[in-house]
Formats: sequence, C-alpha cells, structure tokens
Amino acid sequence: MGKIISVANQKGGVGKTTTAINLAASLAAIEHSTLLIDIDPQSNSTSGLGIDAKSVENSIYELMVGSVKPDEVIRNTDLPYLDLVPSHINLVGAEIEMVDKSQREGVLRDAIEGLEEQYDFIIIDCPPSLGLLTINALTASHSVLIPVQCEYFALEGLGQLLNTIKIVLQHLNPNLDIEGVVLTMYDTRTRLSNQVADEVRRYFDDRVFESVIARNIRLAEAPSFGKPVILYDSVSIGSKSYLALARELITKNKELFKDSPVFA
Ligand SMILES: Nc1ncnc2c1ncn2[C@@H]1O[C@H](COP(=O)(O)OP(=O)(O)OP(=O)(O)O)[C@@H](O)[C@H]1O
Ligand SMILES: [Mg+2]
Repeated sequence: MGKIISVANQKGGVGKTTTAINLAASLAAIEHSTLLIDIDPQSNSTSGLGIDAKSVENSIYELMVGSVKPDEVIRNTDLPYLDLVPSHINLVGAEIEMVDKSQREGVLRDAIEGLEEQYDFIIIDCPPSLGLLTINALTASHSVLIPVQCEYFALEGLGQLLNTIKIVLQHLNPNLDIEGVVLTMYDTRTRLSNQVADEVRRYFDDRVFESVIARNIRLAEAPSFGKPVILYDSVSIGSKSYLALARELITKNKELFKDSPVFA
C-alpha cells in the first residue's frame, strides 16, 4: 500500500509546487509509481507538467463533487511512472460549495479512497492557505511534508500550520504524521541560508530532511516548458537536489518497499 503525502504551508511562494512536481517526478524516475494530485485552484502543478489548465474538462473539482470517477481524471505524463490529477480554477467554487456540507473535510479522502493500492506514493500539492482544501488534503493524507524557504521570517506562520495539523489529528485524521520539513531555495553563498537552516533544525530537530533544495534557476525555468526539472535539465543541481530528497524519503519509508526491486 502506498503513502499519501500532502505538501503544505499556508505561506505563499515557499516552494510547495516546485517540491510537489519534482519530488513526484524524482520518485517516478526511480521507478516508484507516483500520483501527483493538484488541489490548488492556481493549477501550477498542472501547467508545470505541460497541461493547459483552462482546457481541462475533468479535474480534481469533478472528482470531489463526485461527477466522475478517479480513472476519468487521472492522466499519464511524460514520465512512465508518474500520473497526474489536474486542477482547474473552478476549484475555488468547490471550497464555497462544500461549506455547508456535513463531512466537508473528508470529501477528498472519500474521492480518492483505494487509490493508494495503485501507487507507491500519492503527493498532494496544496494551496497557500489553511482553508477547506488544505484541510481536505490533510484529512486524506498519511503525512505532511512542509517546505520552508531559506529566507527571513522562515519560521513565521509555522506555529499556525502545526496547530492546524494538531486539530486535524485530533478531530479528522488520527493517523496524520509529519513527514518532515524540507529547506528550499537554499543558497550556499549566503550566510542567511545557513542561519535559517540552523534555526529550522534547532526548532524541528531530526524532522528536517538532510537533503536541502538548492536555489537553482533550472527549477524556476522548467515549468514554463511544462516539464519537471529531471526532464528539462537532468544534471542541474535542482534535479540532483530533488532526487536526493526522493531517495531520503524512500529510505525513511523503507518498510513500505521491502519487497521492491529498486530498494534491494
Ligand atoms: N529551489 C528553487 N530555486 C529557484 N527558484 C525556485 C526554487 N523553488 C521555487 N522556486 C521559484 O519560486 C517561486 C515560488 O515557488 P512555488 O510556486 O513552488 O511556491 P508555492 O509555495 O507553490 O507557491 P504558492 O503558495 O503560490 O502555491 C516560483 O517562481 C518557483 O519557480
Ligand atoms: Mg503552489
């Protein structure tokens, strides 16, 4: 059975989508079947994999309102082991439509029920808020991965996120775990990056992944070509950063894959 991991942080622009796309693609590149679910109305994971979000007919929205089944929304990508559930701007409406539904926090969990049997990993790219869409993602997940940008005020707002995780844990999903914190946009040349990394490690201790994501222009360019970085520039430092993160994630979860040939 696969593992469902939400990539979440309500702060905007910290590297959620870059991490979701490139972690998912790296897992797929090392032959772990992976599904990327875009649950952000901005649809950046969708366009980042080369799909024009405006032209998507069946998206995560249709799946969540129950008008289509998973196999009608899941798409193949350029990577054989990577599939995608695209998003659409109309997902904004879903958040409003869901408000007076009972069990509104469990809509995604119910919509993707059983899919973890088909994949090693399901990665969910969350929007930059702690609203109903992110709560749905956390409720549907086994764990949450938190990207933290190596910038001033890196830790700001994380208390709020941890509090939300605690509430979900207590009331909606008793199995939710923190997969770890990933330092993003790390620039070895600046003292600031090192200071932030030290501060985050002091706060989260061994919950911080050893693999650090370098600041790398290739990571920023790749989405405009509709490709994960591994297909855009496989030897770039950005590509290597996410491959290392994928390997570390697999090692951390090795009991899930003890029978996998990749791991042997
Ligand atoms: N390691 C990196 N090196 C260089 N640029 C990066 C890196 N990670 C992310 N970026 C760039 O920073 C910007 C924000 O990244 P991204 O879209 O992944 O953040 P996000 O948290 O998903 O944003 P939002 O909150 O809007 O969903 C993008 O332009 C992206 O290309
Ligand atoms: Mg994003």
